[in-house]
Amino acid sequence: MAKTAAGLRRQCMDTIDTYQGGYFHDRPWLRTAFAATPREHFTPDRVWWHQRAEDGRYPVLDRHADPDQWLQAVYTADAALVTQIADGAVRVEDGPTTSNDFTSSLSCPLVVVNMLHHLDPQPGDAVLEIGTGTGYSTALLAARVGARNITTVEIDATIAERARDKLNGLGLAPTVVVGDGEQGHPARASYDRLISTAAVQRIPPAWLDQMSTDGTILTPLATPFGSDALALLRCDGHGAAEGRLVAAVNFMPVRGQRGHRRWRDLGWFRFPDLHVTVDHDGQDIRIQK
Ligand SMILES: C[S@@+](CC[C@H](N)C(=O)[O-])C[C@H]1O[C@@H](n2cnc3c(N)ncnc32)[C@H](O)[C@@H]1O
Repeated sequence: MAKTAAGLRRQCMDTIDTYQGGYFHDRPWLRTAFAATPREHFTPDRVWWHQRAEDGRYPVLDRHADPDQWLQAVYTADAALVTQIADGAVRVEDGPTTSNDFTSSLSCPLVVVNMLHHLDPQPGDAVLEIGTGTGYSTALLAARVGARNITTVEIDATIAERARDKLNGLGLAPTVVVGDGEQGHPARASYDRLISTAAVQRIPPAWLDQMSTDGTILTPLATPFGSDALALLRCDGHGAAEGRLVAAVNFMPVRGQRGHRRWRDLGWFRFPDLHVTVDHDGQDIRIQK
């Protein structure tokens, strides 16, 4: 018998616990929010699966044609569902595609939970979210800080409108802004937490200017290693921040930072600065200038 959404959600939580028990253990609010938020409510009826089929194309999952397969995908812990390709130039109505120019997605549950775990928002925090997407992460955040404390910026007007409707449908009314998230949203600054669900090569200066003292920025940062890294930064309230890279992730870039820039110009170490020592007991790799 096909599983219900609630059953699949519980199963998905078990998988998250297996992969990363700490995420829910350390943040009980996140467990409660995840259990109470219907991810299927935010998922478009037709999405692309994130992996190619044998024919080399990304298949379409259709809620009406195969509801069980669609719902199973919604609650697959390590699967992002692709909701837009090439800024909308490739249409999901046209079926499977070979294009991997993914420009919007419903982030995978494992990564969403990982990010909110690291963000560690507190009740009543003013939060700026960059990249509203479907609105699913916004809903989880709202359960912790209250929807009225959230400003979420999405560059694609159609995507933003849909997310606003979906959030409103659950009685949630955050401030949804159509705009370039690299500019933040000064009208509602300052913010205690900033979370971006699109990757940057360089932290936009506007973000730094709109954060409160001791505010936290969590964003995927492009790296020279073939994946992005989650940067967790503490802000000084005067335009500077510092912190650590806490996890490897993969995100689509913010629209304004799709081009390539030299790693050195982005402040990265040079590869010759990495020193490797190895013996029979193991190896050690660290920066040595
Ligand atoms: C990975 S998706 C968002 C996922 C979302 N958290 C969810 O689970 O539905 C990234 C989103 O960032 C948006 N985006 C890209 N560049 C942006 C920018 N400069 N400002 C605001 N949003 C941007 C894309 O349109 C896309 O919807």
